[in-house]
Amino acid sequence: MAIQRTFSIIKPDAVAKNLIGAIYNRFESAGLTIIASKMIHMSQEQAEGFYAEHKERPFFADLVAFMTSGPVMVQALEGENAVLANREIMGATNPADAARGTLRADYATEVSENAVHGSDAVESAAREIAYFFSDDEICARTR
Ligand code: TYD
Ligand code: MG
Repeated sequence: MAIQRTFSIIKPDAVAKNLIGAIYNRFESAGLTIIASKMIHMSQEQAEGFYAEHKERPFFADLVAFMTSGPVMVQALEGENAVLANREIMGATNPADAARGTLRADYATEVSENAVHGSDAVESAAREIAYFFSDDEICARTR
């Protein structure tokens, strides 16, 4: 197992429900360290760029509207096998399919408003971290 970094978003629905602390507790309890963090309200251009891989999908416009509907927390997480570890903490994309005890099972009901984002690979994690954080905003144990 290697120490990896991954990128995470607490989406507008979960921020609105006052779940930032509860979700950070899940990350930290699972051994993931928060190495960068901030609250932002994404612009349309930022959200469209972040989700560019989905721009031909039928849900794209609704996804961008949702992600710009309120503030989000963006964070970089570091730890053993962080990409997969975070995906396991999150649960399946559709909360209806998410395993019991995962963030999406506990805190979401709709695929379109599913509480959290997490990178799906080491390569996308690096791209997504760099999309929102400059190097001097990352306070890692390893650089
Ligand atoms: P995706 O990358 O497939 O899921 P994940 O967030 O688990 O990596 O999709 C990105 C987001 O797009 C997803 O979190 C919510 C939204 N989405 C929908 O609104 N409807 C859908 O049918 C899918 C697949 C995704
Ligand atoms: Mg994805």
